Amino acid sequence: MTNSFRTLDDVDVKGKRVLVRVDLNVPMDGGKVTDATRLERIAPTITEISDKGGKVILLAHFGRPKGRDDKNSLKPVAAALADVIKKPVAFAYDCVGDVAAKAVGAMKDGDVLCLENTRFHSAEEKNDPAFVAELAKLGDIWVNDAFSAAHRAHASTEGLGHKLPAYAGRTMQAELDALGKALDAPTKPVIAIVGGAKVSSKIDLLENLVTKVDALVIGGGMANTFLHAQGVKVGKSLCEKDLAATALRIIDKAEASGCAIILPVDAIVAFHFAANTPSHAYGLDAIPDEGMILDVGPQSIERINSAIDDAATLVWNGPVGAFEMTPFDRGTVAGAKHAAARTKAKKLISVAGGGDTVAALNHAGVADDFSYISTAGGAFLEWMEGKPLPGVEVLKK
Ligand code: 3PG
Ligand code: MG
Repeated sequence: MTNSFRTLDDVDVKGKRVLVRVDLNVPMDGGKVTDATRLERIAPTITEISDKGGKVILLAHFGRPKGRDDKNSLKPVAAALADVIKKPVAFAYDCVGDVAAKAVGAMKDGDVLCLENTRFHSAEEKNDPAFVAELAKLGDIWVNDAFSAAHRAHASTEGLGHKLPAYAGRTMQAELDALGKALDAPTKPVIAIVGGAKVSSKIDLLENLVTKVDALVIGGGMANTFLHAQGVKVGKSLCEKDLAATALRIIDKAEASGCAIILPVDAIVAFHFAANTPSHAYGLDAIPDEGMILDVGPQSIERINSAIDDAATLVWNGPVGAFEMTPFDRGTVAGAKHAAARTKAKKLISVAGGGDTVAALNHAGVADDFSYISTAGGAFLEWMEGKPLPGVEVLKK
């Protein structure tokens, strides 16, 4: 898949002004970065360009500001990035105009400069050609290293790719390579595990997956909707009853495509939505009217693990239970540990991503053992939905 993209192997960056789109949308608390994973991921691209004598000009958004607003400034993120790459990162208070032009003009080969939040200009999200042209004046080439923002067709994530010679950064390249191996040209059989609260947010994703994978494990709150659709009484569990027909349609589509749907066969039920509240395992024919399903049960865990054993490739999105509360993290942790062990034993290629998934795998202590963990949220979901990502499409040769 990566072969169809130009990468840093295809360009001599020495002396060039390289506009690098990165994802600096990191979690912050009290002005400090609380999880530097995204910064660590982009470090190789920045370091490589800088070491080769290119001028690294970083473009990124932070939050969803409506115009300029200090609490969404990238300045503290640029400082945290400097610690990660162990190089000074200069900062300019605007991403276009005189301020940006002066900062770029002052750069020497190998320098790194971070420009202020692109979303301080509403033209960024509109992908306004005049704004794209303003950005393009600052660089000779454009490198996109922000897979996690590639579902946005914004000026800095997509527009620039039409205006300047475009290349995939190393993280983008690794991401496309890993994702390609997971769904586009995977080693079969492929299993997907999809969890999370709601079917409504993942209808497109499920519909796409059943046409691509050999087995689909459905867990989390969304499994209740499927169980309900099949006539199981789910008590007070989270359940989107109005989506019963959608669930049945997905089951039919899976059958027609030869994809086995694996639903829970038992459940951990509690009477309050709280950590450490008393809970028990129940068969599906015995869920109490007042009960709430908060995790998959022990027989379901065995079933999921043996389905993982049958697979050569795994794509995982979303926890299979309320993993943020003990003991309802058991199903997610058990499946994650099993997948990690199979991966370590070289029996499985495992790819995970999207929202809570990374947090769940970190919680299980296995994030380092998966073949690839994407830091993308929305972009990972859209990729799983089979949708073209504008920031990736524009990189294609
Ligand atoms: C993310 O954090 O998921 C990406 O940076 C995209 O951010 P957005 O959803 O605000 O476009
Ligand atoms: Mg998002």
